[in-house]
Amino acid sequence: MNILHLTFSARGESSESQRLSRKIVEMLFQRNPKAELLVRRLGDGALPHVDADYAFMQHSNNAGPYGKGSSAMSDQLIAELERADVVVIGTPMHNLSVPSSLKAWIDHVVRARRTFTMATSGKKGMLHDRPMYIAVASGGRFSGTNAHQPDFLTPYLKAVLASIGLNNLLFFSVEGTGARAESVELARRVADQALTSHFNSLELQHASENLD
Ligand SMILES: Cc1cc2nc3c(=O)[nH]c(=O)nc-3n(C[C@H](O)[C@H](O)[C@H](O)COP(=O)(O)O)c2cc1C
Repeated sequence: MNILHLTFSARGESSESQRLSRKIVEMLFQRNPKAELLVRRLGDGALPHVDADYAFMQHSNNAGPYGKGSSAMSDQLIAELERADVVVIGTPMHNLSVPSSLKAWIDHVVRARRTFTMATSGKKGMLHDRPMYIAVASGGRFSGTNAHQPDFLTPYLKAVLASIGLNNLLFFSVEGTGARAESVELARRVADQALTSHFNSLELQHASENLD
């Protein structure tokens, strides 16, 4: 099994989304000790935005030549995504949505005639579906009865990833990282508990399938 772990926080080891997404990777390894892992830390501006080379390629039916600019990076990021059996994303919420680093990755992988085709009904995904775990950290709350801000991150990721064929998204979150230390610790525990329940239910499902 190939795991692709992508992180988009600029806060390095202090990052809650990185911590939570790493925990997901650890749990995947417990289930598949021989899994192979590719880690990309993209939260510090490491990934440039798409450039003219890429934009002209997106716009054209012409085969090229392209590849002198960010279309080569796009090729590489799409190949990594295609190779992955499971994708784990760790991302902060920035201004009610995804950070620009994650948006840059999306711009590289959501690519006409490569990961989607255009039908009269809209974009049609070309990638085969696979589980995508998405660990979100936010300074305030965006879900549940205490949410005090709209959430454009979750619906955006669902829509844009569905456009390339990825519909199996599993969201986990640590919300309220800007609150006092005890509240953050509680939010971590709630997130970890949700993860444990999820992986326990996968084990149960696996065990019952083996009984059939
Ligand atoms: C540019 C920027 C915008 C942010 N916008 C929001 C926001 O809209 N809502 C929110 O709850 N937190 C917001 N935050 C706070 C982060 O989501 C919070 O610090 C989170 O813990 C960052 O993720 P990390 O711990 O993985 O680094 C923002 C932080 C930054 C730097």
